[in-house]
Amino acid sequence: MPNAALPGRPCRPELIHPARVPRRSPFKPEGLAALLHAIAHIEFNAINLALDAAWRFDGMPREFHLDWLHVAAEEAHHFSLLREHLQSLGHDYGDFPGHDNLWSMCERTADDVTARMALVPRTLEARGLDASPLIQDKLRKVGTPAALRAVDILDIILRDEIGHVAIGNHWYRWLCAREQVDPVAHYATLVVRHDAPKLHPPFNMEARRRAGFDEAELGRL
Ligand SMILES: [Fe+2]
Ligand SMILES: [Fe+2]
Repeated sequence: MPNAALPGRPCRPELIHPARVPRRSPFKPEGLAALLHAIAHIEFNAINLALDAAWRFDGMPREFHLDWLHVAAEEAHHFSLLREHLQSLGHDYGDFPGHDNLWSMCERTADDVTARMALVPRTLEARGLDASPLIQDKLRKVGTPAALRAVDILDIILRDEIGHVAIGNHWYRWLCAREQVDPVAHYATLVVRHDAPKLHPPFNMEARRRAGFDEAELGRL
């Protein structure tokens, strides 16, 4: 489908293969801006993903749709915080290239709400829980006011993302109960079926527990 037919697809940033997205050191101003841009791009995609979950799937309770509208509003807030910070550094959203990995998982799970819950909130967003403390540690080492402002924004994002993963866990379990499948075993099947990214340590176990993963799921990591 051409980009013009998709919602929420500005002509910038340029979308390139993930391996081609340049890695820059956040110890340089341009690198810090690129890092903020990369996170802003994730949040921008997350708005689209949450809205897609809110409208695409029939036969779900009203609360499901309301939950994903609530998530979309929080993702828009995250994007705005990062964009404002980028603008304060003389940049804007669209200034750096990005990749399309998140939206592609949205497309791959468009006909299976259980797979969507398993692989978007419970996998991709949960990966954000793991990544946040590592990025924050690095930004604290950079130590400039701009980097420390980014640490504060990431605190807000992490707090809200625990809620998003919790919503994913809630509805994934609800769907597994309806389909009478075991949540842990079914997750492994869905990862293979939809070619989901492999998870790597270190894991943010505390955040994952607060987001509702049980010990069996955490043990599988
Ligand atoms: Fe977010
Ligand atoms: Fe999120």
